[in-house]
Order: sequence, then structure tokens, then C-alpha cells
Amino acid sequence: MESSTPTPSSPFKPDILKGKVALVTGGGSGIGLELVTEFGKHGAFVAIMGRRKPVLDAAVSSLRSQGIQAIGLEGDVRKRDDAIRVLELTVKQFGRLDILVNAAAGNFLVSAEDLSPNGFKTVMDIDSVGTFTMCHEALKYLKKGGPGRDLSVAGTILNISATLHYTASWYQIHVSAAKAAVDSLTRNLALEWGTDYDIRVNGIAPGPIEGTPGMSKLGPDEAKSKSKEYMPLYKLGQRWDIAMAALYLTSDAGKYVNGTTLIVDGGLWLSRPRH
Ligand code: HXC
Repeated sequence: MESSTPTPSSPFKPDILKGKVALVTGGGSGIGLELVTEFGKHGAFVAIMGRRKPVLDAAVSSLRSQGIQAIGLEGDVRKRDDAIRVLELTVKQFGRLDILVNAAAGNFLVSAEDLSPNGFKTVMDIDSVGTFTMCHEALKYLKKGGPGRDLSVAGTILNISATLHYTASWYQIHVSAAKAAVDSLTRNLALEWGTDYDIRVNGIAPGPIEGTPGMSKLGPDEAKSKSKEYMPLYKLGQRWDIAMAALYLTSDAGKYVNGTTLIVDGGLWLSRPRH
């Protein structure tokens, strides 16, 4: 799924993440892959974690063809052993971990009446518990003086969220609940680990982004044309927009930002039909 609109070049210097090591869950496709690509273009070594080997392989060859040092690591964020193994392998390959991005997510449209409790739990397990598990297991690597890092700089965490839980969203009760929990994790970890370890924890809440699995699942044409009517900027976002926000939050540009979830949706969540 390619974005149909050409993306501008990055306004950031190409070395803002030079030498940094990033692990991105769900980094094999969609927004996750865009983040990984831009991290790589700005100097980072990147590891991507996902469940589907063919998707990981395709992503890694695409990244390497752009001159980016990348590895793909199979794993499911719902499994603590996978989280531990993937983190270990990332640090073994690249020497340390500086940036953890939790972009893995599950999603499908279903009414609350038709959603089984196990379906609800599945999305909570991927989005919320998976995010906590990855953060929990990554902590020792992100602390100052952790494996491969010196005593002066701590790592940082970025959680990919959404805006649908700010109000209520049709047929998304599971994702809404899961992303609300993710936002809570962002705030609480920012408080505890910011205070204790200087580890910044932030989030991004993307609006409708063209060319993503999330967008194509959420009722392709209807969702797009409807949101266009309501959208202050009258256009869908691009994966690039989310990647630029991620560069800001994970680089030194965002060094005083902690515990915030940056909404990148063109103002859509605020909007109402014009009277
Ligand atoms: C109803 C469903 C369902 C569906 C699964 N379930 N798909 N219920 N409608 N379409 C239910 C199953 O019936 C089952 O419950 C339970 O969920 C587990 O299903 P499995 O297929 O066994 O799970 P699994 O193979 O682990 O797959 C989980 C998955 C995941 C959540 C379906 O594979 C998935 O969605 N992957 C897509 C990733 C994706 O689209 N990422 C982009 C996210 S975008 P029972 O009771 O039958 O056992 C995003 C943006 C959100 O997050 C914001 C948008 C605005």
C-alpha cells in the first residue's frame, strides 16, 4: 500500500539519530515501516519486530536497499519470551538500545454486540499488554549505564496510539479501550521512569493516514469521504507526517517532552460539521 501523495523531504538534519539503535514493533508495514525508514535515513540502526516472516523479510530488503542497517526479528508482543529474545538480539546485533517504538496493533471493525470477549481480549493483549511487556523488558537496556550505554544518556520510548477513544467510535470498542490504556501507560511510565531514570516516554495519536492497514480496514471509501467532509485540513495524513513527529519526539529536539501523546490528525478529532 503506497501513499498516493508525494512526500516532502525531511526538514530534519540527516544525522539527528546518528548511531542510535531503534527497535520498532510492528515495523514491517504501515506506519511502523515508515518510522523505521525515516529513523534509518536519519542515521539510526533499526530492528523491526513482527509476526510474519515474509513481511519482515520484504521490509528489511527494502530498508537495506536504501542503505539502512536493518534486521528483522520474528516475535509476538503478546509473548513475554519473544519480547525478551527480540530485545536481546537487537542489543547483540547493534550494541545497545536507544529507542523503543511500540507500533504493533490489532484491529478489525465489529459491533460490541458481535465482538466476543476473546476478540476484545486479543486486541487488549496486543496493543496494551504488549506495549507494557515491551516497555517492561526494555527498561534495563534504556537506563543510563545499561548494557552498551554510558552513564550520561538514557533511552526513550514512543507508543503509537489513536484518537478514537477521546470520544467514542463505532465498532471499535476493543481498540478504543486498548488505546486508552496505552495513553495511560505513556503517562505513568513517563512519571515513574522519567523521574527515576531520565527515560522519556511519549506517544503519537495519528489521525486517518492514507495507505495504512488501519485506514483500509476502517471502511475504505466511506470512511475517507466522510472524514474529508469534517476535516479541518481537508486531506488525509501521510505516514511521513507520523514519522516526522516521531523524529521530533525521539531525538534531542524533544528532550523536554515527556508523558505527552502528540495528536497528528490535522485537527480532525476536534471537528464538527459546519452549521
Ligand atoms: C470479529 C474477530 C475478528 C473480526 C478476530 N476476531 N478477527 N472478531 N471480527 N474481524 C476474534 C476471533 O473471533 C477470536 O475470538 C479472537 O478475535 C482472536 O482471533 P484470532 O484470529 O485467533 O487472533 P489472531 O490470529 O491472534 O489475530 C488477531 C488480530 C490480528 C487482532 C485479528 O491478526 C490483526 O488484526 N491483525 C491486523 C493488524 C492490523 O490491522 N494492524 C493495523 C492496526 S490499525 P473468538 O471468541 O472467536 O475465539 C490501528 C489503528 C487504530 O490499530 C485506529 C484507527 C482509527
